[in-house]
Amino acid sequence: MRKTIRIFLLVLVVTFIVAQFYRPEKNTSEASENNILMLHSVPDEVAGLLKNSCFDCHSNNTTYRWYHNISPVSWMVADHIREGKKELNFSEWGNMDIFSQITKLEEMCQESEHRKMPLKSYLLMHSKAKLSDEQIATLCDWTTRLSEELLVKAAEE
Ligand code: HEC
Repeated sequence: MRKTIRIFLLVLVVTFIVAQFYRPEKNTSEASENNILMLHSVPDEVAGLLKNSCFDCHSNNTTYRWYHNISPVSWMVADHIREGKKELNFSEWGNMDIFSQITKLEEMCQESEHRKMPLKSYLLMHSKAKLSDEQIATLCDWTTRLSEELLVKAAEE
């Protein structure tokens, strides 16, 4: 019995070590002119909270921490980023048409109000990314204002 446990632990350790040789590609790239912060006038407070609470999963630039290099955390993180960017990528904001932008703005406010974003698992390790009620109100004021501006622009075009 003790031998079985020892073999099991050995297999576990070897698997862990071998897994470290497989790393997902890092999510980093050059600044893009399609970034939401380049295209709209975003108040500093809103820009700050987007960068601090959303950009790690919804942009082409993630701020990594040391433990993000360790498998299987590295794969979990890569998965969140892939899924997050598929839904919304602030670095590629300018590539969406106006109506998609308006929809995303509305969703940004809703997801934050319903505390679905940032993801709970992310908040466990990034407590500073948690949005206060005040920050959510600021975000929603801004998303509402910008959607109205975009609607007017769409009507003019
Ligand atoms: C840890 C990664 C992570 C962070 C941080 C994060 N998101 Fe997400 N987000 C995701 C993932 C993964 C999805 C897609 C799956 C889902 O909806 O749960 C998503 C989906 C979304 C969607 C689309 C929802 C839908 O159902 O269509 C919106 C909008 C969104 N996030 C906004 C935000 C905002 C705003 C922030 C910052 C306040 C934020 N996210 C922070 C990972 C993240």
